[in-house]
Amino acid sequence: MSLEHEISKRRTFGIISHPDAGKTTLTEKLLLFGGAIQKAGAVKSSKIKDHARSDWMEIEKQRGISVATSVMGFNYQNVKINLLDTPGHQDFAEDTYRTLTAVDSVIMVIDCVKGVEIQTEKLMEVCRMRNTPVLCFINKLDREGQDPFDLLDEIEAKLSIKVHPLSWPISMGKTFKGVYSLYEKSLKLFTPSKTTIEEAIEIADINDPVVDSYVGESNARQLRADVELLNGVYPEFNVQDYLDGKVAPVFFGSAVNNFGVKELLDTFIRIAPPPIPRETTLRIIEPNEKKFTGFVFKIHANMDPKHRNRIAFLRVCSGKFERGSNYLHVRQDKSIRFSNATAFMAQDRETVDEAWPGDIVGLYDTGNMKIGDTLTEGEKTLYTGIPSFSPEIFKEVINLDAMKTKQLEKGLLQLMEEGVAQLFTYELGNKKVVGVVGALQFEVIQFRLKNEYSASVQFSSQGIYKACWISSTDPKKLNEFIDSKQRHIARDKDGKLVFMAESRAWLQMVQDNFPDINFHFTSEFKD
Ligand code: G4P
Repeated sequence: MSLEHEISKRRTFGIISHPDAGKTTLTEKLLLFGGAIQKAGAVKSSKIKDHARSDWMEIEKQRGISVATSVMGFNYQNVKINLLDTPGHQDFAEDTYRTLTAVDSVIMVIDCVKGVEIQTEKLMEVCRMRNTPVLCFINKLDREGQDPFDLLDEIEAKLSIKVHPLSWPISMGKTFKGVYSLYEKSLKLFTPSKTTIEEAIEIADINDPVVDSYVGESNARQLRADVELLNGVYPEFNVQDYLDGKVAPVFFGSAVNNFGVKELLDTFIRIAPPPIPRETTLRIIEPNEKKFTGFVFKIHANMDPKHRNRIAFLRVCSGKFERGSNYLHVRQDKSIRFSNATAFMAQDRETVDEAWPGDIVGLYDTGNMKIGDTLTEGEKTLYTGIPSFSPEIFKEVINLDAMKTKQLEKGLLQLMEEGVAQLFTYELGNKKVVGVVGALQFEVIQFRLKNEYSASVQFSSQGIYKACWISSTDPKKLNEFIDSKQRHIARDKDGKLVFMAESRAWLQMVQDNFPDINFHFTSEFKD
C-alpha cells in the first residue's frame, strides 16, 4: 500500500466532554459499529467518581486498565480509526490537553439537559489554540432537555465557535420521535433500544404528508417550521469551514439508545481530516513525506514498581515507522533502536512491525523519553505545540526522610516526565513546588513516591495564583526583573524561567510595572 493511501484512510481523533455527558457510552457504541467489541459494557469507564475521598486508589486501578483503552484502533468501512481516550476526571485535565495535541479532530459530547458545562469550555479552548476541527454530538435526547435552538446559541456563546446543525430533533424526552437529517434529507425514527440501528427514511419533500404519518401532525408542523428557520439562519454547510476549526457541525442523538451514532460516524469518516501537516521548530512537516517523524504525547508508567519500564505513546506524523529501525531522539541527539513496539487495536495490544501517519505506537522505554520528545530519521527538528499550561494548585514538596533524598529526586523527575504534575524549582533556596490541575494529583504523587521510590513526602500549601513563563527581547531588562523578583523566580523541568505570581491583582501590577517583560501562561510561546 502506498503512503498516500494509508494516510487517506486514517482518522485520528478524541472524544471530549464534561464528565457524565456520555463519552464512555458513545465510545462503546463506536467500537460496536467498528466490530472492535461484541457487546455493550466492554469498555471500562475511565471516569473516577468525584465524591469518595479514597478515590486515588481507584486511580491506581485505572492506570492498569487505561493503557489498554488509551488508544482504540478499529476499522470501519475501510477507514482505520484511531480513537484516543482522554481521562474523564477534571483533575487530570492536563493529560487530556496533551492527548489533544496528538489528534487531528475532536468529537464533543454535550448533555442536552445540562448544556455546555465548565470542563467542555476548558477543553474547547485547547482545541481552538490549534484550530482543531470539532464535531458536536448533543446527547440524551430521550430526556427532557433544553430547547435545541437555545442549545445551539449556548454553544456559540460559551464555546466561541459557530455551529451548523446537520440533523434536527423531533420533540424530545418521552415524546422524542427521532431526527431529521438536514444533510441527507431523511428521517430517522427513534425506538428506544440499545442494539438496533435506525433505518433512514428518505424524504424528498418535507411537506409530504408521509412525514405526518411518521411523527404525528403537530410534530411535523413544528419540524417544518424549524427547518424553514434553520435554512434561513444556516447557509449551505461548508466542509472547509469545519476543517479550519471555524464551524462545528452538530448532531443530535442518544448514545445509550444507539440513536444518531451511526449517522455521526458515517459523517465523521466522510468529512473528518486525515492526518494533517504539523509544525516543527524548523519547518512544517507533511504526513506524506517519505521519512518517518513522530512525537511522544503521553508516558505511562508500568504497573510493576520493581521494573521502571514505561510505555511512551508516539504519534506517527510522517513516513512509515518500522519496528527495529534506528531513529534519532532529537533532544538527546542519539540514535535509538525500537525493537519492542506495540499497536493498539481496540482493547488488545499487539506487536507492530510498521505504522503510518495518524497511528499511535507504544514504545517500551527505560527512561529516555519525555513528553514532547521528537523522533526522526536524522533531521534535527522538534515538534511544537505540546506546551505545558500553568497549573492551578501549588504545593511545596517536603521531604520526610532525608535518607531517601536521592530516591525522591529520581521519583519526582520521573513522575514529572510522565506528566503527572509540573515541578518548579526556585532559584533561591532550591525550594521545590509541585503544580497540578486538580488536588487528587497530590495524593497520586505521594502514593507513587512511597510505593515506587520509597520516598516519603508531605505537601505544604503555597499561596500562588499562576506560574507565568517569562521572556523579553531585552536581556538586560529580563535580568533586572529577575533581580528585583528573586524570591518569586523558579525554573520549570526544562530549565525555563518562570515567575510565580501570588495573586491576580499582584500579577497585573507587576505586568504594568515591567512592560518589557512578557508573561505567558503556557510553556511554549513566540515573542
Ligand atoms: P462519561 O463517560 O461522559 O462520564 O459518561 P458515560 O458514558 O459514563 O454516561 C454517563 C451516564 O449517562 C451513564 O449513566 C449513561 O448510561 C448515561 N447516558 C449516556 N447516554 C445517554 C443517553 O443517550 N440517554 C440517557 N438517558 N442516558 C445516557 P449512569 O447511570 O451514570 O451509568 P450506567 O449505570 O447507566 O452505566
